[in-house]
Amino acid sequence: MATNITWHDGLTHAERSKLRGQNGLTIWLTGLSASGKSTIATALEQHLLHSGIAAYRLDGDNIRFGLNKDLGFSEKDRNENIRRIAEVSKLFADSTTVSITSFISPYRADRDQARALHEKDSIPFVEVHVDVPVEVAEQRDPKGLYKKARAGLIPEFTGISAPYEAPENPELHIRSDQLTVEESVTVIVEYLTSKGLVRL
Ligand code: ADX
Repeated sequence: MATNITWHDGLTHAERSKLRGQNGLTIWLTGLSASGKSTIATALEQHLLHSGIAAYRLDGDNIRFGLNKDLGFSEKDRNENIRRIAEVSKLFADSTTVSITSFISPYRADRDQARALHEKDSIPFVEVHVDVPVEVAEQRDPKGLYKKARAGLIPEFTGISAPYEAPENPELHIRSDQLTVEESVTVIVEYLTSKGLVRL
């Protein structure tokens, strides 16, 4: 039998945060494909990790190829994609990690649900609109997907043949065609520190 194990009914979120010396939260990046979400998310994750803060990024590579590999891009599948991501991100945040999500999440109602899920348990949720005009995203087109969408080869492509509902009151609005990646990360980090959400 193991001895000297500290055990009681279950730690509260506040107790866990105190023991870890860090608060968890979700930073929810939303925006068009090729808006720069993942680039900013990656740089932000690295910056926080280098500052000694546990941070983790959820994106298409580790979610859509795993947990959500059964989902496509119909409205219903995107609803479910975002619902699951919100639940997973909340778990990371509850574990006191700074969870950074990087998904188009085009529907306002889905993002509002993600927010409500966090707020019900008093876990901070910071919505960041990574905004570029669709023409700029289309010009960038790093994966050639806009071109294919225009040619009718990808149905329901966000910004071309499927909607993107921009946030009305995001905590942060970043014009990623007007700021560098470093400047975008600085805007987010300054917000987090000014609100006492992270201590650097
Ligand atoms: S979301 O709408 O459900 O939030 P998610 O962010 O997971 O989308 O995936 C978007 C990525 O999948 C895009 O950046 C693009 O690389 C790819 N993709 C494939 N098909 C589509 C489509 N029909 N609309 C938008 N993105 C698509």
